[in-house]
Amino acid sequence: MSLVDEIDYGTPRSTATEMVTLTIDGRSVTVPAGTSIMRAAMESGIEIPKLCATDMLDAYGSCRLCLIEIEGRAGTPASCTTPVAEGLVVATRSDRLDRLRKGVMELYVSDHPVASLDPCAQPDAELLDVAAAVGLTDVRYGPGGARHRNPGVDLSNPYFMYDPEKCIVCSRCVRACSDIQGTFALTISGRGFESVMSAGADQPFLESDCVSCGACVQACPTGSLIEKAVVEKGKPDRSVVTTCAYCGVGCTFKAELKGDDIVRMVPYKDGAANHGHSCVKGRFAWGYTNHRERVLKPMIRERITDPWQEVSWDEAIAHAAAAFKRIQATHGTSAVGAITSSRCTAEETFLVQKLVRAGFGNNNVDTCARVCHSPTGYGLGTTFGTSAGTQDFDSIAETDVMLVIGANPSDAHPVFASRMKQRLQQGARIIVIDPRRTQLVRGPHVEAAYHLPTLPGTNVAILTALAHVIVTEGLCDEQFIRERCDWDAFQDWAAFVAEPRHSPEATEAVTGVPPEDVRGAARLYATGGNAAIYYGLGVTEHSQGSTSVMAIANLAMATGNIGRPGVGVNPLRGQNNVQGACDMGSFPHEFSGYRHVSNDAVRDIFARDWGVPLEKEPGLRINNMLDAAVDGTFKGLYIQGEDIMQSDPDSQHVAAGLTAMDCVVVQDLFLNETANYAHVFLPGSTFLEKDGTFINAERRIQRVRKVVEPRNGMADWEITCALSNALGYPMNYRHPSEIMDEVARLTPTFAGVSYDRLDELGSIQWPCNDKAPAGTPVMHVNGFVRGKGNFVITEYLPTAERVGPRFPLLLTTGRILSQYNVGAQTRRTDNIVWHDEDVLEIHPHDAEERGIANGAWVKLVSRKGETTLRALVTDRVAPGVVYTTFHHPDTQANVVTTDFSDWATNCPEYKCTAVQVSLSNGRSQWQEDYSAFADMSRRIITEAAE
Ligand code: SF4
Ligand code: SF4
Ligand code: FES
Repeated sequence: MSLVDEIDYGTPRSTATEMVTLTIDGRSVTVPAGTSIMRAAMESGIEIPKLCATDMLDAYGSCRLCLIEIEGRAGTPASCTTPVAEGLVVATRSDRLDRLRKGVMELYVSDHPVASLDPCAQPDAELLDVAAAVGLTDVRYGPGGARHRNPGVDLSNPYFMYDPEKCIVCSRCVRACSDIQGTFALTISGRGFESVMSAGADQPFLESDCVSCGACVQACPTGSLIEKAVVEKGKPDRSVVTTCAYCGVGCTFKAELKGDDIVRMVPYKDGAANHGHSCVKGRFAWGYTNHRERVLKPMIRERITDPWQEVSWDEAIAHAAAAFKRIQATHGTSAVGAITSSRCTAEETFLVQKLVRAGFGNNNVDTCARVCHSPTGYGLGTTFGTSAGTQDFDSIAETDVMLVIGANPSDAHPVFASRMKQRLQQGARIIVIDPRRTQLVRGPHVEAAYHLPTLPGTNVAILTALAHVIVTEGLCDEQFIRERCDWDAFQDWAAFVAEPRHSPEATEAVTGVPPEDVRGAARLYATGGNAAIYYGLGVTEHSQGSTSVMAIANLAMATGNIGRPGVGVNPLRGQNNVQGACDMGSFPHEFSGYRHVSNDAVRDIFARDWGVPLEKEPGLRINNMLDAAVDGTFKGLYIQGEDIMQSDPDSQHVAAGLTAMDCVVVQDLFLNETANYAHVFLPGSTFLEKDGTFINAERRIQRVRKVVEPRNGMADWEITCALSNALGYPMNYRHPSEIMDEVARLTPTFAGVSYDRLDELGSIQWPCNDKAPAGTPVMHVNGFVRGKGNFVITEYLPTAERVGPRFPLLLTTGRILSQYNVGAQTRRTDNIVWHDEDVLEIHPHDAEERGIANGAWVKLVSRKGETTLRALVTDRVAPGVVYTTFHHPDTQANVVTTDFSDWATNCPEYKCTAVQVSLSNGRSQWQEDYSAFADMSRRIITEAAE
């Protein structure tokens, strides 16, 4: 396989529908109006030399290399900034143009410390390619002469370096940072010969506001900004297009290799979700693949206090299968189950749930979506009829008003946050409902029209207050409601929200939000044009998570903001394949495609295809499995790619459940916290080592392609097949494409999906069937999937978790940009330089009351447990609210979270825990005991040591 070299057309594609015909170098060319002459030439195969232009950015016109001649016009205009016009006759080559370009190029090169003009002499220097293209073979003015200011090489960023001496001040990096990423961290400082690109106020990159998205590195045409890996390993010679394994945006990358050594990940311009952009995680944080702590050999042990014993794959699989069979023989069919992972591929999760239903003979399968977006499934299923976001990401380009609630896209979905910022800079407005002041409330060139800083746990109250204003002020879209929704349900709902007790004035005491802001936000959402709602775990992870999702859907239906580009209701999925894990039937009550196991006709389709009778009663959810384990009725668990000990609430209860089981099988990359309680460890493979698909937050099915062979010897789907075969239920797939063929055969929304079709189209958004053979970017266009849209009454019920004198503060949790989920991957990369510990954000008033200074060690105590961590005193949180992340096992933030959960789905109430904070002088007893236990549990007897 060779290097996938994407053409750079110089300027972005024009979206105009009117076409224009002109002549370039004697060729007749027809392109959309608004296209630059540079792009028109490139599209017809005529390359014009360029340095400051790239099709990721609007034209800038500074380098003067792309000159052209236009018949009847004087001078030599820049082709990147000159739009096409009907009938133009353009020449891109002439003696004059060649001479001018060569002269300009000679000046650039004279200011650039190149030892040779051979493009091969310096990796990734487009500058030298252009020098070669204009025929420059010699430079008269250098290299002995003075060059521009050079503050010295900046090596501070762990992933890329900046050598100012090579900078030609083209501003491509500066514009990439502002126009693509939206961070505005870079600038050109100084003037004339003194000018040079700098991060922040002439700071090292690491100390500046740079978020390490890599857009500047990608934009740089001189190698002034370059990945350290490219300098170290040399220019890659082949690439494989694949999908990021971190968040639910689902960015496409070219994994570039030199031989079999991965050199870098380059965002793919044809990626439908990211259009060539990336964040620090997908772009740079893949080194965990080769981390020294990666476990590559299967291991077993009798008791969790024994050291691990390395064994062969056959022995480990046979050991696990024998244990599961023994448990079922002794304790019954329902005494075992499995947990699938949103980090694994759709094919892998499909196989795990199939193993449970067909191999174990029960429905005890659940997934980590239980603890994040299960209320989305219930809420959107009840109101719209389908459990998924309604829009594609590109829809944001037509949005006038964004309502972001319980989500922090700048940290958790960075590439989509950049799209939001681009749209905001074009004039769209944003309402943020969040207890914290996130970057979308106030950031570089971003200022929210309204920030409603609700108290944690009051989403339903604020959403109903917004609805109150919309209904009582006559801002509903009655025509849409009459045509598309259940009118009776609407009238009941409208009467409910109109009650005075739901007014912003009446609910202020609950939400803490000034009523005039609620009224302003409601009016803007209802009347500001196309309005789209984006929400995250700050909505779902509450005891009323499902109610909040339905309240959101009610708002969209009442204002007619559903069923066309620019509007809609969009859950921002946390992990790469949350959507896919849910789609594949990972829940205990549903087969793939969200069909209930009690439906005889559906069950019959699966039973016939799989050749076994299937159980019609729904199985146990994760929390039910743990409860049953503590009660002694659930004894065996197969966990693929999840670390429930760190990610699930009430860690001490999780530990008790796991400890009570006879056989816990963990399949993962590292000995994670859950593995401390396991009896069999099956080494997993990374996304770089396998084939499959991930399905992102826009329902987009995208290929994961094997870049290197699995270091552990087996891809995860092969491990599940081996376990199933050992259990006596045959699974004999030759390639994951056959698993997808089975999914397509059994799942109506995936009917037209195959690897061939995915290769052909790049990606497909389900539903994909005869009616929509290329997929469905926007859902509910002509009608809701359930028929009429269903308004649901959303009575606010305060959580049972109450603040009081003992626990006066409310803890809410979230993520940070550089880390991902439980941090298993990102903590094992250089991303650790940005966040090497979890800290507790606390408002200055609350800190002062407790004598807490910035950086002090504090004790965080809830009714469930306690932990210690450092304080970060900041007014980003409101008084009465504290906030932390859960990326580090040393902190184990979930020791304090409660077992309260969403009434409909049992999604835990992570976002609202009553706590007290006080100064601390040491780790909690739980932290001490747990770390001693973990050290003991991680001992390994290797084959070599035997
Ligand atoms: S660092 Fe590279 S992209 Fe930035 S101004 Fe200099 S040459 Fe241009
Ligand atoms: S983590 Fe998310 S935003 Fe970042 S590169 Fe990966 S998919 Fe894209
Ligand atoms: S590429 Fe057109 S002026 Fe630089």
